[in-house]
Amino acid sequence: MLAQQQKKIESTLNELFKDSKYDMLKMMKGAAKSAFRPMQPLDFKDVYLSISKEQGEDLKRLIKEKNIKNIVEFGTSFGISTLFLAQGVMETAGRIITTELIESKAQKAIENFKKAGVNDLIEVRIGDALETLKNHTEPIDLLLLDGWKDLYLPLFQLLEPNFHADTFIYVDNADMEDSKAFLNRVRQNTSYQLQSKWGGKVVLISIKK
Ligand SMILES: C[S@@+](CC[C@H](N)C(=O)[O-])C[C@H]1O[C@@H](n2cnc3c(N)ncnc32)[C@H](O)[C@@H]1O
Repeated sequence: MLAQQQKKIESTLNELFKDSKYDMLKMMKGAAKSAFRPMQPLDFKDVYLSISKEQGEDLKRLIKEKNIKNIVEFGTSFGISTLFLAQGVMETAGRIITTELIESKAQKAIENFKKAGVNDLIEVRIGDALETLKNHTEPIDLLLLDGWKDLYLPLFQLLEPNFHADTFIYVDNADMEDSKAFLNRVRQNTSYQLQSKWGGKVVLISIKK
């Protein structure tokens, strides 16, 4: 049964990765719109901007290895990363809260979760993550930061009270300027340790024991 469900997710993921092959072109179009003003999430409303398959597999492994159950994700897009998270929590009896600013992207993600048969494991919150996660009171085992990078620090600070001794914070696009500034702030706090992965594209933060 579990193997069958995993296959269904895998086939949805394969379709989405196929569809995302034009991302680079769409990204350039989005970036062109912002030639004379700062970039906005809406400029990329048709672009997946997803994590790679290898990152997804790695996240799945982490979830299973550490028996992670409660996941919060910042930046759903069309749901590729969330589907990898779902593959993980299917085996740990966990749940995911994911949040996306752009309504049309969130709706498409919900469709994808239904297609993959995992919408009951995922709560999608539509809106600005700083609002949708404001009253979050549950402990967080894994926080995936993969939205706009200037929000990494305020979101981390907002959710920090929900961290515990075994919490992981997975920071995607850690090599971008805004992420680096955020990571430098975290590094100053001796409670945290940082592990660089995928040539610096990702940093995994955990609590020092
Ligand atoms: C890099 S993409 C996420 C990719 C996704 N995690 C994946 O791997 O498939 C970042 C997403 O964050 C969303 N975003 C940007 N600012 C946001 C905010 N303030 N609140 C929620 N989502 C936001 C963007 O619209 C975009 O879809």
